[in-house]
Amino acid sequence: MAQLWGGRFTKETDQLVYNFNASISFDQKFYKQDIEGSIAHVTMLAKQGILTEQERDDIVDGLKSILTDVENGTLKITGEYEDIHSFVEANLIRRIGDTGKKLHTGRSRNDQVALDMRLYTREEVQAVDVLLKGLLQTLLKLMEENIDTYMPGFTHLQKAQPVTLAHHIGAYFEMFKRDRQRLSDIYRRMNYCPLGAGALAGTTYPLDREYTAKLLGFYGPTLNSMDSVSDRDYLIEFLAALSTIMMHLSRFCEEIIIWNSNEYRFVEIDDGYSTGSSIMPQKKNPDIAELVRGKTGRVYGALMSILTTMKGIPLAYNKDMQEDKELTFDAIDTVKGCIALFDGMAATMKFRKEVMEDSAKNGFTNATDAADYLVNHGVAFRDAHSIVGRLVLHCIDKGIALDDMSLEEYRSISPVFEEDIYEAISLRTCVEKRTTIGAPGQEAMKQVIDEEKKYLEAAIFGPWSAEPQNGRENDA
Ligand code: ARG
Repeated sequence: MAQLWGGRFTKETDQLVYNFNASISFDQKFYKQDIEGSIAHVTMLAKQGILTEQERDDIVDGLKSILTDVENGTLKITGEYEDIHSFVEANLIRRIGDTGKKLHTGRSRNDQVALDMRLYTREEVQAVDVLLKGLLQTLLKLMEENIDTYMPGFTHLQKAQPVTLAHHIGAYFEMFKRDRQRLSDIYRRMNYCPLGAGALAGTTYPLDREYTAKLLGFYGPTLNSMDSVSDRDYLIEFLAALSTIMMHLSRFCEEIIIWNSNEYRFVEIDDGYSTGSSIMPQKKNPDIAELVRGKTGRVYGALMSILTTMKGIPLAYNKDMQEDKELTFDAIDTVKGCIALFDGMAATMKFRKEVMEDSAKNGFTNATDAADYLVNHGVAFRDAHSIVGRLVLHCIDKGIALDDMSLEEYRSISPVFEEDIYEAISLRTCVEKRTTIGAPGQEAMKQVIDEEKKYLEAAIFGPWSAEPQNGRENDA
């Protein structure tokens, strides 16, 4: 047991208590951020004359050597330390002697852990964004390739009106685009530095918090020391954004599972992204899509967990907050894995264009267009709706599509129909007449694809380095 706070105690912590309290098994994940934060802290302490330049150099060299050794595996992070902060400090003292004991001047583990978690999360917000951007590129390519791949659009999982595959995938493009915007919003709100808040009430040392914030790439320091050590809003926001990403992935997976079923056969998932059955030789299962759908629950669970943990915590730091880490790390890793796998699955999936088109033809998806035809010939929409309803009933009776009815059959139900009804209800016409922006017609779709291309070229990694627009957002 290696603890930073033994002085006041007259006996050793019970082993079970020690184990229950310790966080090193999971907070070792941010050893790099812990060291990075400490380097910035001592750099500021020296600038303020609180440490000498020599002391700063010794500490920085020691911290850098710890980082190198952890990264190349010569220094192992072990369970004998309570947390990553104790591990780094103890190793520093072992390496450079008493000067190492000055590292923690003007700092508490409360602002230290608040900083580490923020630095870690900030990188992960960007990493998730990079993956989402890759997925958007895959989706845009599929859209470009499929502006004339006709398929049924559904409501209530019933065939409704014809659309194109480009249009259907385009809906998901918009969802994941909004997800990126959410990440960028979160980044802008969270990018303030809590270091210098001390345990809760700041410190009596003349710290330069603006300087530390700048060294660490923050917009500035946080403005209330009690809030600084007890704010986990950014994690809640991030987990909410991750949950929304999973919800989008899960909906898409659900559709792919349906499309991949024996009944639909709209798609074939690549062998590399499918699995077999141990007993049924004919099976090729969409396990990856199912797992992504399933893991959504786990990410929602993390969001619920942290919301619940935070709801009853009085100001300022309380140990409950240590519970923010494992579930957040797990959610981040889960979402990153899911986006990457989904991207690969989508990029390699085969779309059976003829099956999709046949399905659109055979599901009366052009019934609205038949009604519109009548409206264009002077029939009131409500009457047209009823006439086409009767046409559909007739077709169901005979087991044919609207396109297969003879003109005599049409005219026996309404004399308004002429030879041009066939052209008016062809799949191509139904889609191509939908030319307003956002609709599936080719011209409208091409315009959207061009716009999305520009969006992807411009927003490389989101506006990460941009200053917040209204100066310090804390002030707003
Ligand atoms: N492991 C702790 C956490 O994750 C670090 C902060 C400890 N602070 C304290 N006052 N015990 O929250």
